[in-house]
Amino acid sequence: MNKPYVFITRKLPEETLKNLYEVAEVSMWPKEEEPVPRERLLEEVKRADGILTMLSDKIDEELLTNAPNLKVVANFAVGFDNIDVDTATKKGIAICNTPDVLSDTTADLTFGLLMATARRIVESAQYIQEGKWKNWGPLLMAGTDIHHKTIGIIGMGRIGQAVAKRATGFEMEILYHNRSRKEAAEKELGATYCSFEELIEKSDYIVCLAPLTPETRGLFNEKAFKQMKTSAIFINASRGDVVDEQALYHALTNGEIQAAGLDVFQNEPIGADHPLVNLPNVVAIPHIGSASVETRMVMAELASRNITNVLLGKKPEAIVNEMVL
Ligand code: DGY
Repeated sequence: MNKPYVFITRKLPEETLKNLYEVAEVSMWPKEEEPVPRERLLEEVKRADGILTMLSDKIDEELLTNAPNLKVVANFAVGFDNIDVDTATKKGIAICNTPDVLSDTTADLTFGLLMATARRIVESAQYIQEGKWKNWGPLLMAGTDIHHKTIGIIGMGRIGQAVAKRATGFEMEILYHNRSRKEAAEKELGATYCSFEELIEKSDYIVCLAPLTPETRGLFNEKAFKQMKTSAIFINASRGDVVDEQALYHALTNGEIQAAGLDVFQNEPIGADHPLVNLPNVVAIPHIGSASVETRMVMAELASRNITNVLLGKKPEAIVNEMVL
């Protein structure tokens, strides 16, 4: 009997795919930083039983309805807003992701971004590189304290809670807003639940880790930035579309908020000419939340096991639409 066919949309280390090679015929787009062209992906899914996808691949209705054998899509990310889950569910296609394994790594990066933005670390490094450091000065590159300030976390899932845990080390007051109350986080981390409005008004650091959904799309708009303190620092490590970038640009250039640290953008990748990138009060990085070598290896292994399990008729470790099993 022929082995099932699996297509991987980006070059991943071979050693992370061992279990997949045992059960399937596997083919992989050979480039690491260049996405597979849409036409090629549409061609591949005509025969694929499984695909291992990146968050930059659009797995929409057109693709899913032209994939007669497709049983599983394993996204190499915890987020799955690039996938039309409703259509996949109607078609009985399992959608898998990589939660848990990236929470600490993404929380490290998020907190690092907060620190880099508050203490002007990138701007300071550039200052030396540009040969501008001539003298020490009392307020030279002076930033904002982090310890004992108030952090407001929007999206208190696994990553949000891991960021809150880091904030306790800085003796910060922790506020959070989430679809549901997180009693364990309240008890263990001393986090206080509040409304979105209260959180953005009271926080010194507003950290967005909420998934992109119809409710969170455009959540950080002109009104929201106006409600923040003029000293507020906004950090986004979830998805670019939760922010109205024009409104953010306006808030940063008109003194409505102090600074922003951004790991994600509305239309990724962005170029050096993106309006937000050249602002001195913005630290912009290229969507690297979960990008440690260790974690990316574990994510690849998990995505690969998710496909193997579905193809073998077993329950995958991480499935978004369990009802299809
Ligand atoms: C995810 O897993 O959704 C992250 O955005 C990847 O860094």
